[in-house]
Amino acid sequence: MIDAYQASSQARVNAALEPLFVAPSPEMSSLYAAMRYSVMNGGKRVRPLLAYAACEALGGRAEEANGAACAVELIHAYSLVHDDLPAMDDDDLRRGQPTTHKAFDEAYAILAGDGLQSLAFSALLDPRLNSVTAEISLRMVTALALAAGPAGMVGGQAIDMGSVSLKLDQQALEHMHRHKTGALIEAAVHLGALASGRADAAQLAALQTYSRAVGLAFQVQDDILDVESDTATLGKRQGADAARDKPTYPALLGLDAAKAYALQLRDQALDALRPFDAAAEPLRDLARYIVERRH
Ligand code: IPE
Ligand code: IPE
Ligand code: MG
Ligand code: MG
Ligand code: MG
Repeated sequence: MIDAYQASSQARVNAALEPLFVAPSPEMSSLYAAMRYSVMNGGKRVRPLLAYAACEALGGRAEEANGAACAVELIHAYSLVHDDLPAMDDDDLRRGQPTTHKAFDEAYAILAGDGLQSLAFSALLDPRLNSVTAEISLRMVTALALAAGPAGMVGGQAIDMGSVSLKLDQQALEHMHRHKTGALIEAAVHLGALASGRADAAQLAALQTYSRAVGLAFQVQDDILDVESDTATLGKRQGADAARDKPTYPALLGLDAAKAYALQLRDQALDALRPFDAAAEPLRDLARYIVERRH
């Protein structure tokens, strides 16, 4: 079920993303190539899937969440390009291919990331990708700005950089993960729900409980996979966290307890969806997928 949903959602978001990478003039062709390289390279598209599934859970059509889906994936792709830079995690492999600074150079990787961040907000405001009122649109832009910025993902990345070789306690580790990864996953669900044009406050609150749990579970599983997967399956270097002495859930709790925690978070997410009918089935499947995935 999730396989078919994932395939159709990936095709939908990829079709919406592709036209964004046409260079407006020949001098910018390398910049646009670097941005395209960083996005159209086989990511799992988990955040777009969450946006589509949240929109559908509220009775919207998936297409109505195209702007939201593109926006969250563009922010995510930018965050990965910068995360891989030598000044940050210094990784050479991403999605099974050389990282953007290896395929191009550091300057282009920095600029591609900057460009993708701006493109995300353009996508969220592009009338071809969105069908909501101006008032809802403003709420979506505000939510994405908060999630992506210093109070969200960027803040989490700063905590991450400052935590190398430190032994964080579980509260501090959770704080870091909720920012660096959770914030954008929460935004994916929130934006998708708003894109349906029919989200009420109670539904948004339930979806926030869901997304907080899956957002944290996603990074817990990412940490687990860094320990027990392999580079070919991951498409990024296995063991990179341990090599860099990063604080992670398996390092803090041990592998078994980290896995148990991920399952507990999945159950919290599923509980939050109790008030929803069968239209929320893709969201339920995604909560299961996030902790069962092997890459
Ligand atoms: C990896 O994200 C980085 C984290 C925030 C944990 P994904 O596992 O979603 O990476 P892609 O998009 O599929 O490559
Ligand atoms: C990345 O976390 C979170 C981002 C905001 C990009 P990681 O550094 O663990 O992501 P990977 O493992 O390199 O994909
Ligand atoms: Mg990192
Ligand atoms: Mg990294
Ligand atoms: Mg990781």
